[in-house]
Amino acid sequence: MKLIVCFFLNLILLNFSSTTPMQELPPDYYDDDDDEASREGKFRTICYYTNWGSHRNIEDSRLYPEDIPADLCTHILYAFGMIGGRNIKHTIQNDIADYQGQGPLYKRIMKLKEKNRRLKILISCGGWGQAGQFEGIVGSEEARKEFSQNVIAFCRQWGFDGIDLDWEFPRSEHKENFGLLTKTMRQEFEEESKKTNKPRLLASIATAAGEYLLKHGYDVPTLCKYLDFVNVMTYDLYGGWYNKVGHHAALYGTPEETGQDAELNTNSSIYHWIDMGCSRKKLSIGIPTYGRSFAGDDPIKSWGQSGGGNGGLTSRYLGESGIQTYFEVCMKLQNEGFKRYWHPQHQSAIAFKKGTWIGFDDPDGARVKCDYVVREGLNGAMFWTLDMDDFNGKFCKNGSFPVIRAVRDCFKRAMIKTTTTTTTTTSAKKITTPPQNYNPYRPDIKNSSLPSQIIIDISVEKNIYLFFDY
Ligand SMILES: *[C@@H]1O[C@H](CO)[C@@H](O)[C@H](O)[C@H]1NC(C)=O
Ligand SMILES: *[C@@H]1O[C@H](CO)[C@@H](O)[C@H](O)[C@H]1NC(C)=O
Ligand SMILES: *[C@@H]1O[C@H](CO)[C@@H](O)[C@H](O)[C@H]1NC(C)=O
Repeated sequence: MKLIVCFFLNLILLNFSSTTPMQELPPDYYDDDDDEASREGKFRTICYYTNWGSHRNIEDSRLYPEDIPADLCTHILYAFGMIGGRNIKHTIQNDIADYQGQGPLYKRIMKLKEKNRRLKILISCGGWGQAGQFEGIVGSEEARKEFSQNVIAFCRQWGFDGIDLDWEFPRSEHKENFGLLTKTMRQEFEEESKKTNKPRLLASIATAAGEYLLKHGYDVPTLCKYLDFVNVMTYDLYGGWYNKVGHHAALYGTPEETGQDAELNTNSSIYHWIDMGCSRKKLSIGIPTYGRSFAGDDPIKSWGQSGGGNGGLTSRYLGESGIQTYFEVCMKLQNEGFKRYWHPQHQSAIAFKKGTWIGFDDPDGARVKCDYVVREGLNGAMFWTLDMDDFNGKFCKNGSFPVIRAVRDCFKRAMIKTTTTTTTTTSAKKITTPPQNYNPYRPDIKNSSLPSQIIIDISVEKNIYLFFDY
């Protein structure tokens, strides 16, 4: 079998190299470029690292900084730092103090930049339930400025390339001031860069997906003007609290959905931002490396049904109920009798075994989302989190970081296509529905009668087996 595969590959590669030279990856894959026009056709892979992910109870599930491939993500967001007064601080001692005899986590993660000098690492502040931290720094220009200067000092001290603001639910009275914070920050970052001749620090946010919060909490045009990118948390859209079964990060809605249900998907969330004036090139979709479980009696028809709770599942690794890491879903599919289903309208993967329903993203589901990002001309994809993917490849047996890697490789292919063909993404941008012959399992092979796409696929991925498995 392997022999045949190699033989075929050689034929194709020979064929390929006789016509066009091998494509190198575009060197600017990692460049941070806030000039939107020159970012055409470039996509960011933005990954959250969590400092608690290296302190989990079960050793198998601990992710240390050195185990992240330096070329997996274009940006790593280190969660979390803490805002105290008008300052920014570490949250755990191991961030800044020697840990396992290998130095503090901050220093350990910065070492990835020695292997990939284009990688950017930002400190992420705030997070779930931490809105209060922000309230003290936005109220006056003096506070906003002092905080921005403290951020600069902190980033330069530890080597961070900027700050990610996770103010998830700002109240309406802070809406305008939050916008002003990003403006002041941008000005301070630019000034410091001019003075020191260092690259300007970056600023990004993680934002709620819902329309209500968007209208009341975020000054969209200001945020999108001054921030380098805006990551929309297009996950956790369904859960035990909503009391309905549904994929927590579906790509699309369906025509049958009404009211709030129609909003609970990635596409609808992103379009709220676009419609309120945010540039597509600043917007990233959020992709979860975990699933949410419910009780349900049918893999497809249970969607939208009331009840469901959290399906009685608790993650052994996270110690949380209703959540399963991607690698735990893999174990369920491989050893526990769960089966994978695909919802063709929502374009989402479901793991199901009688009574238990899990909405999750696997490499193929995530790739459909990559394709969406490319088609819509968005900024890229943000992943929550690195440590919930099958980071060591042990559980899913599909290589390390299979979900994030699938998207990263898909972005690379898209970039090669836009740099090697004359068709640009400008026309692709406007399409909002999947094209005909769209193959959700392999969005990169839209139409198998297009051999050039297949060849590009091989030259980039250099992974014969994955490709020929189909
Ligand atoms: C393994 O990864 C490849 C490439 O991303 C993907 O196409 C395939 O479906 C994955 N296998 C499983 C079982 O998820
Ligand atoms: C995506 O959302 C937009 C705006 O709501 C809508 O017009 C479009 O039909 C949606 N696309 C799909 C495939 O549902
Ligand atoms: C590919 O596209 C061609 C021309 O548009 C069409 O005739 C053919 O049926 C398509 N093939 C598949 C597998 O969809």
